[in-house]
Amino acid sequence: MKIAPSILASKFVNLKKDIKLLERSGADIIHLDIMDGHFVPNISFGFPIVKAVRSLTSLPLDAHLMIENPERFIDRFIDSEVDMISVHIEGNYHINRILNTIKKSKVKAGVAINPGTPLNSLEEVLDIVDFVLVMSVNPGFSGQKFIDSSIEKIRKLCKIREKENFGFEIEVDGGLNFEIAKVLKEMGVDILVFGSFIFKDIEKALNELRKLK
Ligand code: DX5
Ligand code: ZN
Repeated sequence: MKIAPSILASKFVNLKKDIKLLERSGADIIHLDIMDGHFVPNISFGFPIVKAVRSLTSLPLDAHLMIENPERFIDRFIDSEVDMISVHIEGNYHINRILNTIKKSKVKAGVAINPGTPLNSLEEVLDIVDFVLVMSVNPGFSGQKFIDSSIEKIRKLCKIREKENFGFEIEVDGGLNFEIAKVLKEMGVDILVFGSFIFKDIEKALNELRKLK
């Protein structure tokens, strides 16, 4: 199980210090929440911050694109030297093309799915993605409450993966804490994203979470 802190919940004035502390405390991946004010009702950050984070750490960077028409920007994210990119299934008319563009560049390609979107909408891409990002809150903000019905959805996805022998990893994002992480780990989830739970006390939270690994 890999731990992926989302810097959306950080205080950006301390970004350098926090990233160094995340590294020292055993984070596995840095999760970057990219929001455009259209796909979600919030604007976060873009290329200058992604590049700054890249220059600060050699940890894998995971760009979660909550933007309309991600195709317009995909080459620039690839050029920013991130290691993973996920695009949402919702409203993405040419999902195969975009996933294949990501894969060709050797960046890991993921598909993300909102809480209100049924799993069967992923059917046509499960054999090509490197990972599936299951949102367990409606995207847009850190600090929201985990939506309980996500557990059933994730369980179903784990079953499909096992039955069909798919190779994708499962990432869960939104409202996670230690207790929920325990359950998800047991279920076989591979990557857990934490925003507010980690950034209220980075060292303490990561010490606790590392025990689950
Ligand atoms: C929500 C983002 C999440 C979020 C996680 O739109 O995709 O990555 O920031 O933060 P917490 O763990 O506080 O829900
Ligand atoms: Zn995210």
